[in-house]
Amino acid sequence: MTRLVAGNWKMNGSLAANSALLEGLAVPVGVEVAVCVPFPYLAQLQQRPAGLALGAQDVSEFESGAYTGEVSAAMLADFGCRYVIVGHSERRALFGEDDEVVGRKARAAMAAGVVPIVCVGETLTERDEGRVMQVIGRQLEAVIKVLGAQAMSAVVLAYEPVWAIGSGRSAEVAQVAEVHAGIREWLRRQGVAAGSVRILYGGSVKAENAAALFAVPEVDGGLIGGASLVARDFMTICRAAAGVV
Ligand code: 13P
Repeated sequence: MTRLVAGNWKMNGSLAANSALLEGLAVPVGVEVAVCVPFPYLAQLQQRPAGLALGAQDVSEFESGAYTGEVSAAMLADFGCRYVIVGHSERRALFGEDDEVVGRKARAAMAAGVVPIVCVGETLTERDEGRVMQVIGRQLEAVIKVLGAQAMSAVVLAYEPVWAIGSGRSAEVAQVAEVHAGIREWLRRQGVAAGSVRILYGGSVKAENAAALFAVPEVDGGLIGGASLVARDFMTICRAAAGVV
């Protein structure tokens, strides 16, 4: 399957910085590339390099109405978003999103034709306690419960160990391989067509380690934070995913 590399800009950027960054982006053949930008910049991104897909970083679980401050999935679709990140660990940890909210957000996105990139992953304590797949299973279960096994195969998953995010310390290749295989096996057991689910890895993916991570057969792409803000680095990562190193 074609790998997907999605840049998560997080709460970074300005009109000027974004346009400088976009000038340095050219989507290589053989990989799908997306940028998930802060809501106000969805308008600016209507003009973007050829082949670059657009995404957002969060979405409301509600359809429309009196929900001050929320942004609906239909609005994202209106701006041409193909993807939306749902359940990022920063939203879970800092904004109180629980598994059920994440499930409902994924459902809202799907209903509007926007593909949710559902983030799952363990904290360091949970890893040390040997509970990695137990935690991820619980996170996934809340999503499959609202979507059903069939729709689940259309979702993109991102394995993002919390301890690897923004820490400069990526998970080891062997750890990534083990968890990705575990997720696929978990999906299979739930009756999901697991072979068609793209499972991205995220957490300190850099120009230097991208090729090694993408060489893991179970890794179908990456969710890139800090390095997606530097055009050269992001392009190196995209080329690594395309197999052109
Ligand atoms: P970093 O690549 O900065 O570690 O962030 C990863 C991430 O959270 C992507 O969603």
